[in-house]
Amino acid sequence: MNILLIGGGGREHALAWKMAQSHHCDNLFIAPGNPGTASIGTNVAIQVNDFVGLKKCVLENGIDLIVVGPEDPLVNGIYDYFSNDEDTKHVNVIGPSAEAAQLEGSKAFSKHFMQRHHIPTASYAEFTLENYDQGIEYIKAHTLPIVLKADGLAAGKGVIIAFTHDEALTSFEEMIQNKQFGEASAKVVIEQFLDGIEVSVFALTDGFTYQIIGHAKDYKRIGEGDTGLNTGGMGCVSPVPFMDNAFMQKVEERIIKPTIKGIQSENLVYKGFVFFGLMNCGGEPYVIEYNCRLGDPETEVILPRLQTDLVSLLAAADNGTLEDVNIEYHAASFATVMAVSGGYPGDYKKGFTIHGLADAATIPGALVFQAGTTFNENSIVTNGGRVLTTTAQGEQLQDAVENAQKALSKIHFEGMYFRKDIGYEFKP
Ligand code: AMP
Ligand code: GLY
Repeated sequence: MNILLIGGGGREHALAWKMAQSHHCDNLFIAPGNPGTASIGTNVAIQVNDFVGLKKCVLENGIDLIVVGPEDPLVNGIYDYFSNDEDTKHVNVIGPSAEAAQLEGSKAFSKHFMQRHHIPTASYAEFTLENYDQGIEYIKAHTLPIVLKADGLAAGKGVIIAFTHDEALTSFEEMIQNKQFGEASAKVVIEQFLDGIEVSVFALTDGFTYQIIGHAKDYKRIGEGDTGLNTGGMGCVSPVPFMDNAFMQKVEERIIKPTIKGIQSENLVYKGFVFFGLMNCGGEPYVIEYNCRLGDPETEVILPRLQTDLVSLLAAADNGTLEDVNIEYHAASFATVMAVSGGYPGDYKKGFTIHGLADAATIPGALVFQAGTTFNENSIVTNGGRVLTTTAQGEQLQDAVENAQKALSKIHFEGMYFRKDIGYEFKP
């Protein structure tokens, strides 16, 4: 099978690494990829939203399977583009239709969906310029903290947790009156704060049935002890100690099954990954958000932990046999630790040479997944905020974290920073 993977981050490096292990994978192309994926398959210099360029690549290389990494092209209709074209409709595209991708692309759409299907989530209301004054009254009467969310995609920055009413009112004005996130914040969802521990659960669906392919806990704050600004994710562990059978059963019965049933009953075309962003509130699971893709850096731990052949799984999602697949996991625990550029998530410099990539790979079982990197002549240099992540395994979760850090300690670039406390709350 010839595969085209779309994206160029750490998630895509991990997807490329996993798919290349399958005997079903003949040729793997990555658009645009990064220096990490270049060591696994063929990078093609096409951007993720250049559907015309991607179609040309699909036809030239006899692509049978397209795997879409990031949310942007999905919300922009990449599934529909390929499925509605006579030349490419035979290609198996992994990712939901644009309509179904609104589960991630519009907070209001996903909240309505959860309400219709009685899926536990924070209570909420939505506001635009038209009912702006009602929004102000709603905020004033709301308990603290208050969560404000830009309705549309805002590159992970559209959520504000306000601890005072003044802060909430200022953010509300910024989003709606001053269009802080452009059209994405023309509508704002205001919701109840959920107090608990976050966990991400991943499923693959064909729109009718599903398989759970892993779960992880992501450490989103820049500072140790979960302090400071939010980032795209600074590290992950999998499995998560509190995800025992009893909790997982609640997640499946109350959240995953009603979601897939809802997708089916509303005739949403959805063949792809579902990312359930959950909050464990005193043992009860609530949905914070849906994403219509895999997480980053969650993918960098869930795929190394998954034993099942991923390409076979994706084929099963296309040919109606997903229900029959057997999902198997490695017995070990996995951790990934992200190295970021100095200054991230604020301003940072790019172009610093990365040393020690080969040395890191000598740590037994360790993997390096590149994210914000690029080639500069004969070296690999930093090219983003989140630069790379090292994944390792261990008998216990803490061993996995230690091994991932051991691998990361072999790597160096100017300004490199990483959290040394990934998995801290699970220390015995
Ligand atoms: P989202 O973009 O919806 O994932 O939100 C970003 C982050 O904000 C989440 O990962 C949570 O850490 C936090 N968050 C979002 N909604 C809530 C909520 N209702 N209660 C508490 N924290 C939330
Ligand atoms: N790590 C969170 C995300 O991928 O959205």
